[in-house]
Amino acid sequence: MARIFITGSADGLGQLAARQLVQQGHQVVVHARNPQRAQEALAAVPQAQAAVHGDLSTLAGMHQVAEQANESGPFEAVIFNAGVYQVSNLTRTADGFPLLLAVNSLAPYVLTCLLTQPTRLVYLSSGMHRQGDASLRDLTWQERPWNTTQAYCDSKLHDLLLARAVARHWPEVLANAVDPGWVPTKMGGAGAPDNLTKGAKTQVWLAAGTDPAAHTTGQYLYHQRPSATHPQAADVAVQEQLLAAFARLTSVPFPAGAQ
Ligand SMILES: NC(=O)c1ccc[n+]([C@@H]2O[C@H](COP(=O)([O-])OP(=O)(O)OC[C@H]3O[C@@H](n4cnc5c(N)ncnc54)[C@H](OP(=O)(O)O)[C@@H]3O)[C@@H](O)[C@H]2O)c1
Repeated sequence: MARIFITGSADGLGQLAARQLVQQGHQVVVHARNPQRAQEALAAVPQAQAAVHGDLSTLAGMHQVAEQANESGPFEAVIFNAGVYQVSNLTRTADGFPLLLAVNSLAPYVLTCLLTQPTRLVYLSSGMHRQGDASLRDLTWQERPWNTTQAYCDSKLHDLLLARAVARHWPEVLANAVDPGWVPTKMGGAGAPDNLTKGAKTQVWLAAGTDPAAHTTGQYLYHQRPSATHPQAADVAVQEQLLAAFARLTSVPFPAGAQ
């Protein structure tokens, strides 16, 4: 039995992963953007142990989530699942960041740095990461004309780069990224062609699986198998550039060694 924390688990793949994990007998702490959504998350997965709340679009919310999760922890595994896609215009958060960058890229980074270190970390990426911009230029969209699809692709490349950077810096931690497929959630839309149950399976397996194949690190997996990545996702210099940029933007330094 493992203790697992899942961000953005009031709906979609996060809720499904929570359901699959409690069915396997694991202790799960769910997370939602506010107290009401946290109650709804618990009502949807009543076997979950507790719910943490906090809006991952702001730095204050990220810190709040880390504090609450650390009080509920420690956890063996964390699934960084919360994400947004359909942000039709350049919505900026209270900190001045594009919402999509804050929720999809900066929140997993800040939580990785602030959570009491688990032994397994799973980052939700996407096949769309392959169209991400590995130059990491203009991360905050001050110069580029806003493009939601490009911003989403960039953010999912960030999640993979982050997973690989963590895997390198913390060899005692298993850190991997997952492409869940295009699945019918609020984000994916009703017509999404991939299997929803399978879409949550890889994260669940990486978080709690006892299969030796689940004891892997630095991988990008689709349906439990390695999948093709952006050619620069393995570039250590790009990974380091990402850590430095995120540390600068969030004022949260990346803990270099094991915590
Ligand atoms: N669905 C797909 O086809 C697909 C494909 C590739 C990758 N992914 C990735 O899989 C992950 C889960 O996606 P999904 O399809 O399950 O999406 P979803 O159904 O829209 O669920 C996303 C979850 O994130 C939460 N969330 C969003 N913004 C938040 C914020 N500011 N603070 C706290 N929580 C927040 C949402 O809360 P509310 O419910 O309150 O809005 C929701 O619970 C995402 O990282 C996504 O990029 C999905």
